[in-house]
Amino acid sequence: VKRITVPEIRARKNGQPIVSLTAYHAHTARYIDPYVDLILVGDSLGMVMYGMETTLGVTLDMMIAHGSAVVRGTERALVVVDMPFGTYEESPQIAFRNAVRVIKETGCTAVKVEGGARTAETIRYLVDRGIPVMAHIGLTPQSTQVMGGFKTQGRTKDEWAAIEEDAKAVAEAGAFAVVVEGVAEPLAARLTGLIDIPTVGIGASSACDGQILVLEDMLGLSPRPPKFVKEYATMGAAIAGAAEAYAEEVRSRAFPAPEHTYKMKKVDGEV
Ligand code: KIV
Ligand code: NA
Repeated sequence: VKRITVPEIRARKNGQPIVSLTAYHAHTARYIDPYVDLILVGDSLGMVMYGMETTLGVTLDMMIAHGSAVVRGTERALVVVDMPFGTYEESPQIAFRNAVRVIKETGCTAVKVEGGARTAETIRYLVDRGIPVMAHIGLTPQSTQVMGGFKTQGRTKDEWAAIEEDAKAVAEAGAFAVVVEGVAEPLAARLTGLIDIPTVGIGASSACDGQILVLEDMLGLSPRPPKFVKEYATMGAAIAGAAEAYAEEVRSRAFPAPEHTYKMKKVDGEV
């Protein structure tokens, strides 16, 4: 099996929709790998895996640990790893140094950075030096402290111009695709028509060139999933049900049964 390449994702503009999900560990990544084009090791892992309030506490080492696990668990999907807060904003040079660590230590193909116009110079710097970059505009969770929370973007027309400039800036800077998060449908359609790289939407309507969801959200493992999430499974309930059945069987000594139990080897001469 050959891994999907950056040019193949890039070429999906106005083509077959790009299917993507997040993953943070090897086994879940292995299960989704045959069905998705792109797997993002998102810094949402801070909230999903570590119970943090925001993504701001996520470190480069955390991203590298989970990124390596996902690369080891997959063979087909393109793996993109998020650059966490504080590792790319200061200068293109520092961003490059940190992105090189992510690429070398995880074996992933590309990195993702948040921000439009303000991040364009860094995107150009990385792409020119051999690191494919996915951009992320609209609702950018690493700036929630500035925005005052997770707020849908572009719901009034006066907000559109800045986000349109962001889309153009990241496309011109050489990003191979752009996540568009938490924007109203008409703006998502407008952005998708405006640039020649694929838009991958999350909470951004069906007007995008592809979709991404946080895996735990769509599996039914998140306590309060946002409105834009469709739950394709009820794994939270499945986990609770399994734990309840196990507890009952341990207490009643129904588990372990003979088929879960090792026997002694027969040794010659032993009675
Ligand atoms: O961290 C993440 O999971 C993301 C996706 C929601 C796009 O950035
Ligand atoms: Na992210």
